[in-house]
Amino acid sequence: MKKRGNFSGRIGFVLAAAGSAVGLGNIWRFPYLAAQYGGGTFLIIYLILAVTFGFSLMIAEIAIGRKTNLSAIGAFRSLDKRFGFLGVLSAVIPIIIFPYYSVIGGWVIKYFTVFISGQTAMAAKDDYFNNFISGTFEPLGWFFLFIAFTTLVVWFGVEKGVEKVSKIMMPILVVLTLFIAIYGLTVKGAMEGVIYYLKPHMSDVSVKTVLAAMGQLFYSMSLAMGIMITYGSYMKKEDKLESSVRQIEIFDTAIAFLAGLMIIPAVFAFSGGDQSALDQGPGLMFVTLPKVFNSMKLGSAIGTIFFILVFFAALTSSISLMETIVSIFCDKTNWSRHKACGIVLTFSLIMGIPSCLGFGPLSFISWMGMSVLDIMDFISNSILMPICALLTCIFVGFIIRPKAIIDEVTRNGASFKSRTMFVVMIKWIAPVFLILILISSVANTLGIFKI
Ligand code: TRP
Repeated sequence: MKKRGNFSGRIGFVLAAAGSAVGLGNIWRFPYLAAQYGGGTFLIIYLILAVTFGFSLMIAEIAIGRKTNLSAIGAFRSLDKRFGFLGVLSAVIPIIIFPYYSVIGGWVIKYFTVFISGQTAMAAKDDYFNNFISGTFEPLGWFFLFIAFTTLVVWFGVEKGVEKVSKIMMPILVVLTLFIAIYGLTVKGAMEGVIYYLKPHMSDVSVKTVLAAMGQLFYSMSLAMGIMITYGSYMKKEDKLESSVRQIEIFDTAIAFLAGLMIIPAVFAFSGGDQSALDQGPGLMFVTLPKVFNSMKLGSAIGTIFFILVFFAALTSSISLMETIVSIFCDKTNWSRHKACGIVLTFSLIMGIPSCLGFGPLSFISWMGMSVLDIMDFISNSILMPICALLTCIFVGFIIRPKAIIDEVTRNGASFKSRTMFVVMIKWIAPVFLILILISSVANTLGIFKI
């Protein structure tokens, strides 16, 4: 067997895993879900799930990878033959995500060009974004461009170069997001938004909210899809697993929190904060931020810098997504890397086109009010990921047993402070909770009963 390369030290591991985790999920997806699902209510549910369930699942996945030295498909199979299918199931998720992720990546490049060419005032107009995404050739062009960038990196194997650039970009993105958030808070009306974002209303809690928060948790931390198993397989045996996981989680959550703070109060300040503005969905960031930049001195320059930084965050994640899919095909077939790359590209282009055109020419396709892109997002985040997470919990709790994970975490005498919580979560709370959530969401969807 080939020896696996290792990340250089713990910081290397944390940064690499965080580079894959931090992306559009934090900056684009988290704020629009929080806006839609009651602000503070969504935030508190997300935080509770992150420190309990997300933490336990990430520990389990990374430990499985480090223990077996394999990525998801091989790892589950090597631990128990009957669970090989779980690796395959989790491999389907990145295949669904990657195409529509690239559609949003395309929107980010488009907005970069809008600001660099100084069209800030135009982009701040109410209909600008909708006119853009309801087009045909323009959104397609940007989608192709984004996927082309990703493919070039994976094709030429220059991920290391991109990682280096993004290591510089990421801290700048954090500082800039903080700056934009603070600026936004000074605008009249923003405080109402801050209250909406931070104050939970227990009356808003519903199964839908919890499901949305959980799907977001998986998505943002790249959990329940085998990715963290692969990252774990590259982690050094002597690195401290528990504290690494904690750092990745804190980093990922902090960026999502800041992105929410940047966008949600601005929705109140610039769009009145009425329900339709909060319910924007995937377009929220693209509708709100131009208004913020337009009201700022040097807004075009700040907008340009912001979107190029978001582009890099999106690119590191999309590279990691494509890389995962390509290596699955390389492992399973005898294709060369380049052949796998070409096939993944072709397939993803075809899969992405309906998501891209779902707001315009294909807007007649809809299911429960969702566009094609939202449907893809729903299938991966609200159906497949909870199923994978449930099966992973059962696998760890009852097949290999939590002790196998605890032994891996505490290798070389490393500490595992939350071990009791881990065991209770993985064996009991998470599975029961996941089953309830899945049943009620299926029932809701099919209209059998409503919660
Ligand atoms: N976590 C990424 C984000 O927040 C998105 C993502 C989901 C991802 N699954 C992934 C990234 C797999 C890399 C690999 O944007």
